[in-house]
Amino acid sequence: MRVLIHLFAILTSLTGALCKHTEPHDLVTPQVVHTFPNGTSLENLAIRASGEILCTVLSAPEIYQLDPIENSSAKLVHSFPGYTSVLGIVEMQPDQFYVVAGNVTFATFSSVQGSWSAFHVNMSEFDINGAATVTKVTDFPDALLLDGLGVLSREQGLVYVADIYAGVVSILNVNTGDHYVAINNSLTVAGPPNFTSAGVNGVHVFEEPNGTLYLYFSNTAQSLLARIPINANGTPAGEPEVVVSGIKVDDFTFDSDGNILQAVLGSNEVAKINVTTKKVTIIAGNPSSTELMSVTSAQFGRLCDDEDTLYVTMNGANFSDIALVVPGALKMLKLGPRLV
Ligand SMILES: *[C@@H]1O[C@H](CO)[C@@H](O)[C@H](O)[C@H]1NC(C)=O
Ligand SMILES: *[C@@H]1O[C@H](CO)[C@@H](O)[C@H](O)[C@H]1NC(C)=O
Ligand SMILES: *[C@@H]1O[C@H](CO)[C@@H](O)[C@H](O)[C@H]1NC(C)=O
Ligand SMILES: *[C@@H]1O[C@H](CO)[C@@H](O)[C@H](O)[C@H]1NC(C)=O
Ligand SMILES: *[C@@H]1O[C@H](CO)[C@@H](O)[C@H](O)[C@H]1NC(C)=O
Ligand SMILES: *[C@@H]1O[C@H](CO)[C@@H](O)[C@H](O)[C@H]1NC(C)=O
Ligand SMILES: *[C@@H]1O[C@H](CO)[C@@H](O)[C@H](O)[C@H]1NC(C)=O
Ligand SMILES: *[C@@H]1O[C@H](CO)[C@@H](O)[C@H](O)[C@H]1NC(C)=O
Ligand SMILES: *[C@@H]1O[C@H](CO)[C@@H](O)[C@H](O)[C@H]1NC(C)=O
Repeated sequence: MRVLIHLFAILTSLTGALCKHTEPHDLVTPQVVHTFPNGTSLENLAIRASGEILCTVLSAPEIYQLDPIENSSAKLVHSFPGYTSVLGIVEMQPDQFYVVAGNVTFATFSSVQGSWSAFHVNMSEFDINGAATVTKVTDFPDALLLDGLGVLSREQGLVYVADIYAGVVSILNVNTGDHYVAINNSLTVAGPPNFTSAGVNGVHVFEEPNGTLYLYFSNTAQSLLARIPINANGTPAGEPEVVVSGIKVDDFTFDSDGNILQAVLGSNEVAKINVTTKKVTIIAGNPSSTELMSVTSAQFGRLCDDEDTLYVTMNGANFSDIALVVPGALKMLKLGPRLV
């Protein structure tokens, strides 16, 4: 028995892949990774394979790196001259990230058509010389406000790009810069109950065990999470359908079981959604608390010791009148004590 335990320990340390899984129980108290200066609103995040967190800023054209620990410092990765805001971020190849940037006036959440572009942020040498290599992929002259990004195909370099004000989702080839509107339907556009003018917001692909591909997407104005079956090239393969409604949603992610972890912007909460039963469970936050004030996006850690930790960005503004209430912050939700 002892030998077996040792063997298991050796295998675990060699592969690094045998992480233990636990289930979240009660409401989780968010811990602060970093609170930014008052007036800074965070928008989105991506986790590097090495564990560090990249956060995009809506109130400034900036990306920061933080360590996956309580009370981390923030290191500026890049500032984009000629832009006011950086929104969605995805990793396509190891340490190769892509973001969208453009001009947004935060106080009114109005945007400038013609100001939107996608950039490649190459982090390969950041740990050596403290600089990312940043190159423009392409402009989006027709876009109104580009927000969430989602990986469609790493092999083909395809990314979904949500335009919240146009209410459509484009496919961008990050290798060629080609892009076109691929998804545009009654559940991607803004509409009743019109909580904001922002339609489709978060966009993420999920492959069912039977091989069916779906694009899941949140719609803030319509206050719902929906999905549409897609072809391998990203075009619609059927009709969109509502998964859950009645929550004021921003971006989201999946856990390893296929549940959705949803940032609920309008009620300062994070919800866990079982896509099959459509059960919505609030796991952190509270409408009357500022601890997750306008939480905008969520991603799990990528290290064995933080793969059950959900990192969330918050913009700190009041969803009703967009007035800044608390400074933007990156927080972490430890979703369950680990079994040892
Ligand atoms: C942050 O700034 C806003 C306005 O810019 C102000 O109303 C608020 O009181 C400030 N909050 C803190 C914690 O300083
Ligand atoms: C983080 O900062 C808070 C507030 O200053 C403090 O209470 C807490 O102990 C710190 N945590 C760590 C791990 O340093
Ligand atoms: C976007 O804002 C920046 C910074 O204020 C400004 O330099 C740039 O001209 C603006 N771009 C457009 C297309 O309005
Ligand atoms: C990223 O940057 C490194 C160092 O400059 C370079 O060698 C590499 O080719 C770049 N990767 C891509 C995908 O552009
Ligand atoms: C979306 O589809 C509608 C018709 O259903 C069309 O009027 C609109 O121009 C399309 N939007 C974009 C950005 O392609
Ligand atoms: C809700 O939004 C839709 C689409 O933008 C618009 O057609 C409709 O008039 C709006 N309804 C209200 C009550 O504002
Ligand atoms: C695949 O699985 C999904 C989710 O369980 C289901 O909705 C869909 O009908 C299945 N498709 C096929 C072709 O079996
Ligand atoms: C959703 O709930 C059902 C019923 O409790 C359960 O069987 C299923 O495993 C859950 N799905 C996920 C992804 O946890
Ligand atoms: C948010 O704004 C609404 C409408 O202006 C107001 O009633 C509410 O008190 C504000 N909440 C906070 C936490 O400032």
